[in-house]
Amino acid sequence: MEKSSQISGFHKLNLADRIDVFKAFAELTDEEAALLGKSAVLGMETAQRMIENVVGTFELPLGLVPNMRVNGRDLILPIAVEESSVVAAMANAAKMVRSGGGFFASTSEPLMIAQIQCLDVSDPFAAKARILERKDEAIRLCNEQDPILVKLGGGCRDVEVRVLDTVKGPMVITHIIVDTRDAMGANAVNTMAEALAPSIEEWTGGRVLLRILSNLADRRIARARCIVRKDAIKPGPEVVDGILQAWAFADADPYRAATHNKGIMNGISALVIATGNDFRAIEAGAHAYAAQSGHYRALTKWEANADGDLVGSIEMPLAMGLVGGATAIHPMAKLVVKSLKLRGATELAEITAAAGLCQNLAALRALSAEGIQRGHMSLHAKNIAIQAGAGGAEIEEVADRLIKGGKVRADIAEAILNELRKAHGAGN
Ligand code: MEV
Repeated sequence: MEKSSQISGFHKLNLADRIDVFKAFAELTDEEAALLGKSAVLGMETAQRMIENVVGTFELPLGLVPNMRVNGRDLILPIAVEESSVVAAMANAAKMVRSGGGFFASTSEPLMIAQIQCLDVSDPFAAKARILERKDEAIRLCNEQDPILVKLGGGCRDVEVRVLDTVKGPMVITHIIVDTRDAMGANAVNTMAEALAPSIEEWTGGRVLLRILSNLADRRIARARCIVRKDAIKPGPEVVDGILQAWAFADADPYRAATHNKGIMNGISALVIATGNDFRAIEAGAHAYAAQSGHYRALTKWEANADGDLVGSIEMPLAMGLVGGATAIHPMAKLVVKSLKLRGATELAEITAAAGLCQNLAALRALSAEGIQRGHMSLHAKNIAIQAGAGGAEIEEVADRLIKGGKVRADIAEAILNELRKAHGAGN
């Protein structure tokens, strides 16, 4: 009989009972169920304070990227990612970038936007004017919601209004622009938007529906640039033109731009996760920004300077915080943030933009030279060897032979493993 997933009072079960219910529902073995209910770093107590219905924690490898230099400061970047080659490729690219002095990065003010959607307004354009006449009052009302943020030098800075033409008729959309300082700021701006909504209804004569931040944080921009001396590019200076061609392809074609930008996010999301920031917010903002011209484009630009050196730059929204959220409570995120010795959240955004540019350089260099597979193969081959049943020293041996044979496949790994075991058995 099909089991029902409708379980009344599920959220009231304790951890052990949740695990039991899940084990029975998903038909887990004792061994599998034993993976649940424990956490080496986060701790089950903290995990259960972070989200609902917790049964375990999910680990990712944390790898170190050496060679990074941003704004004259040397950094070892800890990044959390499941994909092989990301760390190694980034470390190599970071080394090449040192030939031009490393990355140079900057940010705008940490301004977040929240939107208030107002419907059923009979005179939307006049309503817009009425809201803007009361801008000071609106800003004051917003700032009353967060005296601590105001004390720290942040707070609501501006109010903007748009009349949006939609399939459901015109809507009056108010944006509040808030300096959230070292916080990502979602809670701060959402609270302000909710508090301002009744006044917007009063001023417009309409009905407010949504009151929520925008992840297209295009007032919270991070930029990074780098110069790679043509002689520092491996395997040689001819790669400069290859990278320019690869970038032009991405900038002109959304099919390629999506992959190009995914490579950038390999660096960005991995650092965003390692610092406990909201990677979905960053991803959403990145892709919306990439499409802001009406055409989905590359987030980076690559050019050659007068000396023929390769010059790269990136500009994108990076709403990253250091206070509040997982960054403040996840022990590993706290460790990662501490290791970076940041002067504030804007510096974290600068380093993150540099990480994205670095990862993009790594990908474009490999793609326009030897291709991406060679770099991927070594770790991938080891994974395939493990999947085929190899353990201990066998892993390295099977992986080596897979790579030498030019085909990294599970069936071939199994055949190699059987051969090895036979040979070793014969030798005993
Ligand atoms: C793989 O994770 C990322 C790349 O596909 C990025 C790119 O194609 O630019 C290599």
